[in-house]
Amino acid sequence: MSGYIPRDRAWHPVPLSPEYKTSVTRAPRFAPLAFDTTLSEETGPAFGHDILGERDNDLIHNFAASGESALGPRIIVHGRLLDQSGRPVPDALIEVWQANAGGRYRHKTEGYLAPLDPNFGGCGRTITDAEGRYRFRTIRPGPYPWPNGPNDWRPAHIHFSVFGRAFAQRLITQMYFEGDPMVPLCPIVRTISDPAAVAQLVAPLDMDAAVPMDALAYRFDIVLRGGRQTLFENRAEGM
Ligand SMILES: [Fe+2]
Repeated sequence: MSGYIPRDRAWHPVPLSPEYKTSVTRAPRFAPLAFDTTLSEETGPAFGHDILGERDNDLIHNFAASGESALGPRIIVHGRLLDQSGRPVPDALIEVWQANAGGRYRHKTEGYLAPLDPNFGGCGRTITDAEGRYRFRTIRPGPYPWPNGPNDWRPAHIHFSVFGRAFAQRLITQMYFEGDPMVPLCPIVRTISDPAAVAQLVAPLDMDAAVPMDALAYRFDIVLRGGRQTLFENRAEGM
């Protein structure tokens, strides 16, 4: 086991990044205050593999009608959840959410004109196994425009949430796809100053995990902390 690895604060974007418009109103204007945690924050939740439904990690089918499946390129997204020393983190709840193949979310305030897919809900969950591994089946999401600059588009991405041992230990990040030319154009990605931190959010194509005649695969390992930790959007809120 290695020793304590302090957080590299240059790794994370500064909270106020005017090119990412909503960061202007979201960024804290005052120094953070420290509050004592409550018992419920420290003792819950306790997730077990028994909470999972059979299709919870299969977004191709978990909202689809019987015999139907979601539209779009079928992919597997898999990887490992690791601590700062490269050790696996087992029994962690990982939740994902994403737009459909046309770039549209199933959300009541979604305004993009791309159509909903009646067989795609856009969210799923799983729990890491003893080796820290996780795996989802889904469709590759489409890029979508968003009201930031005059013509800003999000690259294809999947949102990830990782729960730790307590409610306050929740970290949120986004995964991008290898080879997507829109990644470096994204104003949210551009809030990350270190190219190595961006690269760690880009999942490489993994043909070894692809299923012939079924699905391509992408590998996304998540490192919880340490010098090479995954960039988390909400690190300031996490414990
Ligand atoms: Fe998104």
